[in-house]
Amino acid sequence: MTLGVPRPDWPGRLLHWQRDHGRQGLPWQGIRDPYRVWLSEVMLQQTQVSTVLGYYARFLERFPDVRALAAAPADDVFGLWSGLGYYSRARHLHACAQRVVTDHGGEFPRTSTGLQALPGIGRSTAAAIAAFCFDERVPILDGNVKRVLARHIGFADDLARPAHERMLWQHAESRLPGQRRDMPRYTQALMDLGATLCLPRAPRCGDCPVAADCTARLEGRPTAYPVKTRTLRRQQRSDTLLWLEHQDRVFLVPRPPRGVWAGLWSLPEVGDATAAQALSAAWPGTGEWLPAVVHVLTHRDWTLQALRWRLPTRGSAATLSDVAQRWPEGRWLAADKALALGLPAPMRRWLTSAYSPSESESVP
Ligand code: ADE
Repeated sequence: MTLGVPRPDWPGRLLHWQRDHGRQGLPWQGIRDPYRVWLSEVMLQQTQVSTVLGYYARFLERFPDVRALAAAPADDVFGLWSGLGYYSRARHLHACAQRVVTDHGGEFPRTSTGLQALPGIGRSTAAAIAAFCFDERVPILDGNVKRVLARHIGFADDLARPAHERMLWQHAESRLPGQRRDMPRYTQALMDLGATLCLPRAPRCGDCPVAADCTARLEGRPTAYPVKTRTLRRQQRSDTLLWLEHQDRVFLVPRPPRGVWAGLWSLPEVGDATAAQALSAAWPGTGEWLPAVVHVLTHRDWTLQALRWRLPTRGSAATLSDVAQRWPEGRWLAADKALALGLPAPMRRWLTSAYSPSESESVP
C-alpha cells in the first residue's frame, strides 16, 4: 500500500460510523450558531466533554450571545471559567468576542481564514467552526486527529517538526469528503474516533471503521504512531501563599497579566515558608499551615503551601496598613464575593471548603 492513500471510501466509512456509533446529542451538535460552536470548541480544546457540559450551560445562560460576552467585565468571564484551567483561553475568548463586535458588527466571519484572524482561534479550531457552521471543506488537525491520521497513514516522521506537521495537514486535506454538506458529520467523526476508539494507549481497533487499511494496525503496532521525539522535561516549582483573614473577609490580589493564572485573583505569594513566617512573626493573631498540594500543569508540577493567618478584629490596624502597602492592588473581600471571582483551582478548593463547605464536593 502506498503511504497515505486510503481506500476511496475513507470519508464514507467515517460518515456511516459517526451516524451509527459516534457521539450524538451533545448541546453543541446539530447547531449552526458560530458563537455557540466557537465557545464549545474553545472549552473542549484541553478539557473533557463531561467537564465542559456544566460550564457550557452556565456560560450560555450568563452570556447568551457574543455581544453579552463582549460587554461583560473580565472578572465575570474568569469567574465562570474558573476551574476549567488554561486561563489564556478565557482571556482570548473575551478578546475575541470584543473583536467580533467591534470589527465584524457582532457576526463571526464565515470562513476558516476569517475566523483564524481572531484571538485564540488556531487553524484547527477555525476549521472546526467553519465546517460545523458553514460546511466549509477544510480539515481539522487537533491532537486526537493527528493520532488518528498518523496511525492510518503510518506517518513515521517526527511531528514535533513543523515541516512534518505541514505534511500531515496536506494528508488531512486530501482525505476530505467531496460534498460540502458532509463536512459537519465528517469533522465530528474524526473527533469522535480519536476520543472513543483510536485511544493513545489502548486503541480499540476491533471496532474501528477504518481499521482494514490502517497502516499502524497492519504493522501490528497501533501505538507506535504518532512519532514525537521532543520530550517535555517537567519543571518543578514551589510557592508559599498567605491566606489572610480579618473580620470574615479574605485578602486577594490580582495575578500578573502574563503567565500561569493570568487574569485570576489569588492569595498573595510570599516566596517560601521562611519568608511567610518572618513576615507574620510581627503580626497579631494566629496562624496554621495548610498541607501542601501539588498542582499539575502541562509543563510543571507546582507545589503550593499556604499559611492561613487570622488577624484579630481589634489591634490589627498596623498590620492592615502593612498589607495594603505590600500589595497595593489587593482587596479584602467577603467570602461570597471572593468565590465569585476567577480563582486558581487549588485556591478555590481551599476557600470553598472553608467558607462554603456544602459546595466543596461540586468543585471541579
Ligand atoms: N472536542 C473538540 N471538539 C469537539 C466536539 N465538537 N465534540 C466532541 N468533542 C470535541
